[in-house]
Amino acid sequence: MGKEYLIAGNWKMYKNAAESRAFVSDLAGTFTQVPGLAVAVFPPFTALAGLRSLDGKIKIGAQNMFYEEKGAFTGEISPLMLQELVDYVLIGHSERREIFKESDEDVNKKIRMALQFNLLPVLCVGETLQERETGKTRAKIERQLEKALHGVASRDSGKIIIAYEPIWAIGTGLNATPKQAQEVHHFIKGLWRELAPGQNLQILYGGSVKPENSLELLAQEDVAGVLVGGASLKIESFSAIIQNCVQLLKQ
Ligand code: PGA
Repeated sequence: MGKEYLIAGNWKMYKNAAESRAFVSDLAGTFTQVPGLAVAVFPPFTALAGLRSLDGKIKIGAQNMFYEEKGAFTGEISPLMLQELVDYVLIGHSERREIFKESDEDVNKKIRMALQFNLLPVLCVGETLQERETGKTRAKIERQLEKALHGVASRDSGKIIIAYEPIWAIGTGLNATPKQAQEVHHFIKGLWRELAPGQNLQILYGGSVKPENSLELLAQEDVAGVLVGGASLKIESFSAIIQNCVQLLKQ
């Protein structure tokens, strides 16, 4: 079987409900579905309900969730609530970890709850510039993965998607080179064989992905998609990235 790709757009704190609906309808008109390609957007929570009735061609994900099903947790959104609205949920994005102080333990609880509620977790991992420059990239990723998977049954870990997002590449315009991305993805694949024996793994690359660099990144052996921030906010750039993937699949 050929490679399965996921092209995902993380909209962060951009676009209201009406803008999100218009974007998804417009985007659906820019590509035809091809086997081996899934397209998803991760809008803010307020847009999720409004996207449910739209074209099923584009999958929907949430950018975060809390790890309890219900209770006195003012301001939080639970997997039970997301279950009726989305397919995917981003977990442990570096902005959640850095700005909102999410720990590896929080990430682990979220992964377990997402799986329990049949949401597909997109687990984000990645190193800072300082960690890369001091040779700590692998150790950091290994720790993040081990902790995130703690207590997850092997058969469930096959549902997890990983997004490798070097923090120094996020929103900086400075992407990891295709070679750097491939190296880390390959390393993650090796770890996965130990952490989740026999389970498949799809790994996305994220960090300053744009139309100009997407083809080469997607062509790497262990890169099975991209998680796109800034360039997913405009139809032109996001659909150009999708088209690059379609082109690769046709080769
Ligand atoms: P960027 O963001 O594409 O704007 O670098 C990626 C992300 O944060 O997921």
